[in-house]
Amino acid sequence: MTDRSCLAIVLAAGEGTRMRSRLPKVLHRIGGRTMIARVLDAVMAGGARVAVVRGPDHAAVEDEARRVAPDASFFTQTERRGTAHAVLAAREAIARDADDVLVLFGDTPLVRPQILAALRDAIAKGASVAVLGFRPASPAGYGRLIVQGGELIDIREEKDANAAELAIGLCNGGLMALDGKRALHILDKIDDANAKKEFYLTRAVAIARQMGLKAVAIDAEEDDVRGINTKTQLAETEAILQQKLRAAAMEAGVTLVAPETVFLSEDTKFGSDVTVEPYVVIGPGVRVDDGATIRAFSHLEGAHVGKGARVGPYARLRPGADLGADVHIGNFVEVKAATVEDGAKANHLSYIGDARVGAGANVGAGTITCNYDGVAKHRTDIGAGAFVGSNSSLVAPVKIGDGAYVGSGSVVTKDVPANSLALGRAQQTVKEGWVKRLRELKSLGKSKG
Ligand code: UD1
Ligand code: MG
Repeated sequence: MTDRSCLAIVLAAGEGTRMRSRLPKVLHRIGGRTMIARVLDAVMAGGARVAVVRGPDHAAVEDEARRVAPDASFFTQTERRGTAHAVLAAREAIARDADDVLVLFGDTPLVRPQILAALRDAIAKGASVAVLGFRPASPAGYGRLIVQGGELIDIREEKDANAAELAIGLCNGGLMALDGKRALHILDKIDDANAKKEFYLTRAVAIARQMGLKAVAIDAEEDDVRGINTKTQLAETEAILQQKLRAAAMEAGVTLVAPETVFLSEDTKFGSDVTVEPYVVIGPGVRVDDGATIRAFSHLEGAHVGKGARVGPYARLRPGADLGADVHIGNFVEVKAATVEDGAKANHLSYIGDARVGAGANVGAGTITCNYDGVAKHRTDIGAGAFVGSNSSLVAPVKIGDGAYVGSGSVVTKDVPANSLALGRAQQTVKEGWVKRLRELKSLGKSKG
């Protein structure tokens, strides 16, 4: 099949208002990735040429699609007149001769490359139209597949269906493959003679048959074709994906103490003997090495956790946080764009950003790297084995040498040489007996009054 060329048309022009959002529907995220990015991933896995049909005010959709599929071509459907009308917005791409033409919807984010391959396979085997059929728990809203003697005869949209057709449980998943040589002939014959006065892509089946061509239905799982029109469906689909990711992590040996409370991304990488405590959110780009523990209520994104390291409870690792082996990052510590080398510790209430913390260094409670001067970001470098006393502010750019000490409560603005002590706080003065004298003065005043 790899020798067959494929054009995949992704429809993303139909807005629908049921998301009740200013964000275009296909830019909503599932598992941290936009729906359109997920659909494009599935398409590109099969090596297809990509055409995206977008709505007139959807520059943001085009930007996101271009980011994921830089070679894609873009077409604008200026008026929303139905799925076939949307496909024909990409007429120019279809005319450029592909063996298989796939039509996908930008709002079915769990579609797998295998299912697209199955559709193309049906075309390679001689069908002119192939659609995905599935049996949803509740068929309401879907088009019904009319099958007779094992052949797909027609698809009836719900609004046009009679009682007998409505009773059919086999529904149209929406995704379709067409024989590239015939696609335009078929699509050009579609009219808008139906209840919604729209040009329905589903008409392709009956038209192909009238032309003496073959149409088939391929079995799909509900998840492959799960379309998202509402925030409720968005959450349901997220839940399905999360369940799959958790199951895969546990299969691979990760201990999830309360799996239903842990959120993962598709690219999350775990070593062996990793434990993730309850209520942890892992965004995109996270790798956790062997034996590490992510304690409860932590949030990780774009971060690497080294072997045997401990993170949390209540820790936040932001993009560029790179923790070495046996590092401890404790409660209410935020790490961003910082390397924390082997065995270093920051156990309480700290911000470590744009920094290096050397091996075995100890960052005391309340330490802040002051990385931003309101204009630019600057780096803090803490040497190996250094000890930063509690409640210190390290005003970047600044360097704390290997083995140096910073006294608690210091504001450090100048570099500290290795093995030296820096004290950057007001000198303490003690006025002996001062309070006693104050009290005596007050009691004197009282007796006078
Ligand atoms: C469609 C199918 C239905 C199927 C269901 C599966 C048609 C006529 N009906 O119905 O048989 O059971 O999907 O989910 O195909 N779009 C445009 N421009 C338009 C119209 C739609 O770009 O003018 C895009 C939408 O953004 C969406 C997709 O096409 O991504 C499907 O449109 P939608 O209105 O959701 O079709 P359904 O009524 O769900
Ligand atoms: Mg739909």
